[in-house]
Amino acid sequence: MSDLINNQEDKTISLHPSFAGVLSKKQAIKKKLKNIHHKIGVYSAKGGVGKTTISINLAYALRDMGYKVGLLDADIDTPNIPLFLGITEKINAVHLPISTYHKDGLEISSTGMLVGDIDKPIIWRGPIIAKMIDDFLLNTMWGELDYLIIDLPPGTSDAPLSIMQLIDLDGFIMVTTPQVIAGINSIRSGLMAKRLNVPILGVIENMSKNGESESTKGVVSKLNTKFLGFIEYDEKFNNFGDNAKIAVESDEKIKAEYSEILKNLKIE
Ligand SMILES: Nc1ncnc2c1ncn2[C@@H]1O[C@H](COP(=O)(O)OP(=O)(O)O)[C@@H](O)[C@H]1O
Ligand SMILES: [Mg+2]
Repeated sequence: MSDLINNQEDKTISLHPSFAGVLSKKQAIKKKLKNIHHKIGVYSAKGGVGKTTISINLAYALRDMGYKVGLLDADIDTPNIPLFLGITEKINAVHLPISTYHKDGLEISSTGMLVGDIDKPIIWRGPIIAKMIDDFLLNTMWGELDYLIIDLPPGTSDAPLSIMQLIDLDGFIMVTTPQVIAGINSIRSGLMAKRLNVPILGVIENMSKNGESESTKGVVSKLNTKFLGFIEYDEKFNNFGDNAKIAVESDEKIKAEYSEILKNLKIE
């Protein structure tokens, strides 16, 4: 018997301190976001493919279906949601917690809206982007929401990694365009997310020319996921963005494209 005991391997897993830190932060953030029923990230490794445009339009389309929706701009380097929505108000980050901004029935939060008092330290002083993301997630007060749409930062390094590790996402939507380079980057970013065990809900092809392109078909098959739908290339998007107008609210064709995507996401 004593041999059996002596021969037992120590099966206790010793966590690397940084990993243990991620787990405890994850728990704290999970508690903070417990009144949000579904959290969906919108992601691609490449900038300029339409993540922000799609996040905003999905949020409005879901709101139009009667859901309570939040929009989180997690793109720390280029937080464009306030620009697209014409929001000029600033939120004082010195007084915690940080409130969300309400517009058109949506709850919105973006690092692009934060300012600190000149004579007081802003809460995310310092260059460590992961710390900024932690602080932002831990200190933002959301109401009860059916859906939170998260505009993820591009790339496959610190910023998107932090978000994927810290938020219990239902999954993310991969945005790609018909170009082969976009497809290659989509596969790259999808594989990273798979390694983090974040589910891929499907792929949207944006700036589409003739429906699903060969490049997108490759992304869908390589990531073993499904095609959610396409949004055609349309010059009107430039006016929408510049005039804080929402495409799904103003254009029937675009509205139908988003309806198809939501149907394929099984949101009805
Ligand atoms: N389907 C589309 N057709 C034409 N222009 C688009 C379309 N979708 C987005 N755009 C434009 O492309 C630019 C980049 O979009 P954006 O949403 O900022 O991309 P990302 O967030 O991935 O960097 C913006 O000027 C936007 O208005
Ligand atoms: Mg963007």
